[in-house]
Amino acid sequence: MDRARAKRIAKQWMFPTETTSYMGGLEDRPVLVRSEGRTVTDSDGKEYLDFQSGQMGAALGHQHPRMTAVVENTMRSMMHSTNTMLNAPRLKLHERLGKLLPLPLSKSLFLVSGSDTIEASVDLARKATGGVDVIGFHAGLHGSTSYLTRSLSFNWERRKHSVVAPATQAIVTPYCYRCPLKLKFPSCDIQCLDTSLELADANFTTKPAAFIGEPILSAGGVIQPPEGYFKKLQEALKARGMLMIMDEAQTGLGKTGKLFGFQHEKGVSPEIIGISKHFGGGLPISAVCTTAKVARDAVKNGYFATRSHATDPLLCAAGTESLNIVEDEDMAGKAAKIETRIKGAFNKMAKEFESVGDIRGRGVLLGIEFVTDRVKKTPANAQTKMIFDYCLNKGLIFQIRGTRGLQNVIRLVPPMTTTKPELDRALSILYDAVKRASKGKRRG
Ligand SMILES: Cc1ncc(COP(=O)(O)O)c(C=O)c1O
Repeated sequence: MDRARAKRIAKQWMFPTETTSYMGGLEDRPVLVRSEGRTVTDSDGKEYLDFQSGQMGAALGHQHPRMTAVVENTMRSMMHSTNTMLNAPRLKLHERLGKLLPLPLSKSLFLVSGSDTIEASVDLARKATGGVDVIGFHAGLHGSTSYLTRSLSFNWERRKHSVVAPATQAIVTPYCYRCPLKLKFPSCDIQCLDTSLELADANFTTKPAAFIGEPILSAGGVIQPPEGYFKKLQEALKARGMLMIMDEAQTGLGKTGKLFGFQHEKGVSPEIIGISKHFGGGLPISAVCTTAKVARDAVKNGYFATRSHATDPLLCAAGTESLNIVEDEDMAGKAAKIETRIKGAFNKMAKEFESVGDIRGRGVLLGIEFVTDRVKKTPANAQTKMIFDYCLNKGLIFQIRGTRGLQNVIRLVPPMTTTKPELDRALSILYDAVKRASKGKRRG
């Protein structure tokens, strides 16, 4: 399909926000027709390195051959099934995931999307604790269902989302590069958390139920809470009878260099986690995982969560194979190596270009924040857009992210299977892009 026809269809038939929501101009972007490995191809035959892993669902690479084989086989035997009966792929996935989870997490239920896991996790925490209030990071994003998950996605402007769910409130994101309290870690002693909790305690309208957060805030601009933050938070939650829900949509299953993002901090053990994105190796399946005790307490109070397609053999078989691949092919180890290479290249660039303000994230979830000067940390939104445009033109795809008004972080999420030559190519394009966008602003 040629670009002109694609543009006409988009303008005439697509819902308007579809074409305007992400930095606008979707109808002028390439029309993708094929994907394989780390490459997507547009309708003109132009190839792009996909450093956003689709919408993060292709972190194993597009059409991983083992995924394709399992999907083809399962489609011939049983694609869909009722969730009121057991089916073999569903049971196998419960067992596979159960054995992989760090104890005391052991129980799982399956859903379809990341937003589903958040809806179900919050309800789980509420039913298990008898509380209602939920707190989350003010730069967090947890989904797009129109009521609860948008209300908890404080990084979006909540007022845009019609009615906001009650008993949801934000706490300050520990964004050390731009500390909202203008303090410095570690001498700050994580004051942002004390202040946040003091305010939350004053705001609670009921018994509180849970905190929800991403181990690394992806859409908020790849913000990595400092060492010790989650441990201190979990102690505070326990003191209030609240549960910790970790949204591992973006950080789970190897991407940060460990199986789960929360495992980077010793002594942190969330009672509930949500996994989605590449869990299905490209197909939509998600899971809520919890401890036997939380599951029991919630079920006593009438908890249940399901979707018509959540236990489809096709999706469950895909889930099991993606977990096999993550383990067999040491995806976490691969992600850690990619982190070293990309951070190494940007650390070098930071010596040359003033605009490279901060380099952060883990594994294949990395963010580079651009500024016009390093002292004032003025966000370089325009230069960041120039970098994005240049890279897209040269065949490299990623997204721009940031907290609220900021759009100055390039978020790189290459598939964990990205090869050395592919990384070299991407880094060479990025170097040229940063150089052009930094014209006249070289260091030294
Ligand atoms: C951290 C996080 N949680 C939840 C979601 C929602 O997932 P989905 O779009 O599959 O509902 C997203 C989406 O990007 C996300 O980044």
